[in-house]
Amino acid sequence: MSDLPRTMLGRTGVEVTRLGYGAMELMDGLRGRSIEAAPAKRVLNAVLDAGINFIDTSPDYGNSETLIGEAISHRRDQYFLASKCGCPINQRRSASGERPPHVFTRQNIRACVEQSLKRMKTDHLDLVQFHHNPTRAVLEENDSVAELDALKAEGKIRFTGMSGDLPNLREQVRMGVFDAFQIPYSLAHPEHHEWITRASRAGAGTVIRCDVGRGIRAVPAHANFDDLLNGVSMLEFLLRFTLSHPHVSTTIVGTMNPDHLADNVRAAGKGPLPDDVYEEAKRRVSGLIISSEST
Ligand SMILES: NC(=O)c1ccc[n+]([C@@H]2O[C@H](COP(=O)([O-])OP(=O)(O)OC[C@H]3O[C@@H](n4cnc5c(N)ncnc54)[C@H](OP(=O)(O)O)[C@@H]3O)[C@@H](O)[C@H]2O)c1
Repeated sequence: MSDLPRTMLGRTGVEVTRLGYGAMELMDGLRGRSIEAAPAKRVLNAVLDAGINFIDTSPDYGNSETLIGEAISHRRDQYFLASKCGCPINQRRSASGERPPHVFTRQNIRACVEQSLKRMKTDHLDLVQFHHNPTRAVLEENDSVAELDALKAEGKIRFTGMSGDLPNLREQVRMGVFDAFQIPYSLAHPEHHEWITRASRAGAGTVIRCDVGRGIRAVPAHANFDDLLNGVSMLEFLLRFTLSHPHVSTTIVGTMNPDHLADNVRAAGKGPLPDDVYEEAKRRVSGLIISSEST
C-alpha cells in the first residue's frame, strides 16, 4: 500500500490518489517522440507499483488506450480508469492534415465508449468525460448526457464527467449532472482557481492537469518564486502548488520516464506546500485568477 495522499473524488465516493497518471504521454508522435510498446508497458506498471490509482486517457491519444489494455488490464482492480467521449471514431484526417471535429451524437458517444472498452480490455470505464469542452447547447441538441446515463444503467460506465474550461465551464458546472470535472490549473495558469472550488462545492470531483512539462518556462514572467522554493525544485514546487488547492481531487501528470515518475511520486508524497508559502505564491498570481462571483 502506497503512502501517496488520497482523497474522495467528489460524490463518486471513490478514494483516489492525489497524484494520477496522464496517459496522453503514451501517444506516439506527441512532443516529437516515438513510443515503443515495451517502455510504455514498463511505465504503466511502474505507475501502479507506485500506488497511483487514477489513470486518464482518451480515444484521441493514439495507442494509449491499447497500451493500457495490453499492459495493465490484468491489474484492473488497481486503478480508476477515466477516458473521454465525443472523439472522432474511424475517421481520417483531412487532406490538409486536420483532425475531424468532435461529435456529441448519442451514436458517436456509444461508439467511443465501446471502442475504449475493447481497447482497454475491460467491461467498464470508471469515468467518461466529454472531451473538447462542448457547450451546454451542443449537449442538449444531441441529448448527449442521456447516452452516458444509458451506458451507466448498462454498467458500462460508472461516472460521467466533463473536460471543460472557461467560459463553457460556468454552464457545465451549473448543469449539476457531472460527477467530475477535468480542468487545467497551475501556477502558470491559475485562471480556474475559483471554478475548481465551485465545481467541488457542487459535489463533483476535480481532475486537474497542471502541465508540469512546461515547468518553469511557463511560470508568469512578472512573478518570481525563487525565494519561496526553500531547496525544492521548481517542478516540485509547481506540482505541490496545484496539490495545495484544497478542492483539487487529483492531478494527472504524464511521463514516459520512470525516474520522473519517481520524482513526481516523491513530490506528491510531501503533500501541499506550507500554508504561508502557498498563500504567498497565490498572492503573486492573484491577478490571473478569475473570480467565480464576477462571472
Ligand atoms: N482536453 C483534455 O481533456 C486534455 C488536454 C491535455 C491533457 N489532458 C490530460 O492531462 C494529462 C496531463 O497533461 P499536461 O498537458 O498537463 O502535461 P503533463 O502530463 O503535466 O506533462 C507531461 C510532460 O512533463 C514531463 N514530465 C513529467 N514529469 C516530469 C518530471 N518529474 N521532470 C521533468 N519532466 C517531467 C514529461 O516528460 P517525460 O516523459 O520526459 O517525463 C512530459 O513532457 C494528459 O496526459 C492527459 O491525460 C487532457
